[in-house]
Amino acid sequence: MKTPNTRSGENREIVIRGGRVLDPSSGLDGIMDVRISDGRIAEVGSGLRGARELDADGLHLFPGFVDVHAHWRSPGHEHKENIESGSAAAAAGGFTSVVMMPNTDPVVDKPIVVSGLAKRVSEESRVRAHISAALHVGLNGERLTEMRLLKEAGAFCVSDDGLGTQNAGVLRNALLYAKSAGLPVILHCEDHTLSADGVVHEGAHAALAGLPGIPASAEDVSTAAGLILAAETGAKTHITHVSTELSATLVGFFEARGDITSDTTPHHLTLTDELASTLDGMYRVNPPLRSEDHRDGVRDALRSGVLDFVATDHAPHASEEKDLPLEEASPGFLGHETAFPAIYTELVRDGELSLPRLVEAMSAAPGVWVGGSGSLAVGSFADLTLVDLSEEWTVSRDTMASKSSNSPYLGRTMASRIVGTIVGGEIVHDIHDIFSGAKFGIRA
Ligand code: DOR
Repeated sequence: MKTPNTRSGENREIVIRGGRVLDPSSGLDGIMDVRISDGRIAEVGSGLRGARELDADGLHLFPGFVDVHAHWRSPGHEHKENIESGSAAAAAGGFTSVVMMPNTDPVVDKPIVVSGLAKRVSEESRVRAHISAALHVGLNGERLTEMRLLKEAGAFCVSDDGLGTQNAGVLRNALLYAKSAGLPVILHCEDHTLSADGVVHEGAHAALAGLPGIPASAEDVSTAAGLILAAETGAKTHITHVSTELSATLVGFFEARGDITSDTTPHHLTLTDELASTLDGMYRVNPPLRSEDHRDGVRDALRSGVLDFVATDHAPHASEEKDLPLEEASPGFLGHETAFPAIYTELVRDGELSLPRLVEAMSAAPGVWVGGSGSLAVGSFADLTLVDLSEEWTVSRDTMASKSSNSPYLGRTMASRIVGTIVGGEIVHDIHDIFSGAKFGIRA
């Protein structure tokens, strides 16, 4: 991880004073000071002073967000995103750790690709970045990857994200092998015989727009199979981008019966298939935006903790792949930079979701899953997100740190802004220069 804004160790110690500290994992909630020293949280309390101080009056301080689902497109699709731009986008969204998906070119299915990527991450990423290798060679759902060797080369987990595994016997073997290799599995649940040529959620909007639909069953059938096999094998399994009411209910049934976690995305929580009526390729995503009933079911499941995390499925695409009619466009949305503001604006502001639950779903819970992140307890990594809940801003191509601009929120006004992100005590995002010398009270 590179440390772009650090000059000769000057950020070794910072006291962030008077911010509203909210850390569900350690029960902190109140106006407090935080001392960061040598990349760790050194002290949390009141009346703390230091040679370098940041006045965080009016700001909220959360444990850094953790995104277990990101496409940084490296290697091979670096015109869409690369490690520098993907990690800048993550930092701009308050994310201090991410998991990078393997549907790249070449696919991350060989140890040499994993080790090359790990080297690039160590040189180019602003945030902690974990590598997901492929579950199957070429993501083709047939031959298992050499998971032990992938792990030795630096893989953190395995996934065929973008594709569901169609054969239950193959998936069972994959889960057993991943378990024996000590690698968690992230499952994209989709039965391709049911999603077929669909491009939007099957329902009234698809019918009115004359677009082929993807039924909810395409996700539910595959989620059920994945959960049954995860419970039976005991493999550490994460079900990603849950978008239907039934899949959320199934997750709730199986979670206590295995080493199983789950996430949903900001877009499945905040948008619906009504956008299909625009016919605009911008709104194509997989799984598709669902109906209000599904969106509400997913909201309920996140609120109650049945769905554990929010993960963005940050999926950059070039404009020539998105400025197209819906049925011709590539599926995927940018996610990092708008995740917290979108959910805060749509759900927290009007009381549908509590702020502590959102922070738990974006920091503490995924932080435990990746290990050692998502907490402001003394001794933890100094990974923090500073947010101004009162700042309004409008999402535009100019606000994007990503190389791409395929955000479904373009033109929307957001009701909160990530103003600073710190990783291991280093400032990796500082939108208003709040950390610059001008605002640092250098005490005598
Ligand atoms: O919409 C999506 N885009 N869903 C996925 O599962 C993959 C992703 C991508 O890689 O573009």
